[in-house]
Amino acid sequence: RKNKIIAIDGYSSCGKSTLAKALAERLHYVYIDSGAMYRAVTLYFLRNNISIMDVEAVNRALENIHIDFHNDAGKTYIFLNSEDVSEEIRQMYVSDYVSEVSAVKAVRSAMVSQQQKLGQCRNIVMDGRDIGTTVFPDADLKVFMTADPKVRAERRYLELKNKGETTTLEEVFENLAHRDYIDTTREESPLIRAEDAIVLDNSDLNEAQQLQFVLDRL
Ligand code: C5P
Repeated sequence: RKNKIIAIDGYSSCGKSTLAKALAERLHYVYIDSGAMYRAVTLYFLRNNISIMDVEAVNRALENIHIDFHNDAGKTYIFLNSEDVSEEIRQMYVSDYVSEVSAVKAVRSAMVSQQQKLGQCRNIVMDGRDIGTTVFPDADLKVFMTADPKVRAERRYLELKNKGETTTLEEVFENLAHRDYIDTTREESPLIRAEDAIVLDNSDLNEAQQLQFVLDRL
């Protein structure tokens, strides 16, 4: 492999995507949001009433799901079967179910192989839960992000409120705890720090400090 890969993993709402985007911009790498892919699959399952217990239905659905990323004016958009779902996948009803869908073995193997293809010949920064452990175990740099759960919930709550979503701080806190629990305890590639990942706790670091922390380790 000649291209460079930076893997950023960690708990929900730790600011992984903010850091990943800043790194990609600085280094002129392509940013890939693996969580958006699991969210798009979840949206498809919800819309089409696919039960995650129904193995055949899940496999059929996965064959019919095509996910694409488009970059335009510094922003990344995700398309599910040619429809721009960038906004919809961030809504609470998708967040409430995404970790259940992401724990399904067939879903993971389909997404992991697509993610590996996306990183075949370009320099990329990819964020998620299993990028440094499963998707790119040979990544050039692995970062594992954590932050105080209260700080994370407050950040995400403000973000959702600014977008006009009606939710409460409590609901957001519960959702993050729920996702972290499923993500860390699932059988298939659970969220865990890769042995060779550097840990970044950003509870008290601003965005510039986080970016510098990683640049210093490249
Ligand atoms: O990154 P984001 O919070 O948008 O991811 C949504 C969910 O997708 C996570 O809570 C997790 O359940 C799942 N996910 C995953 N593996 C990844 C990325 C996300 O299981 N690589």
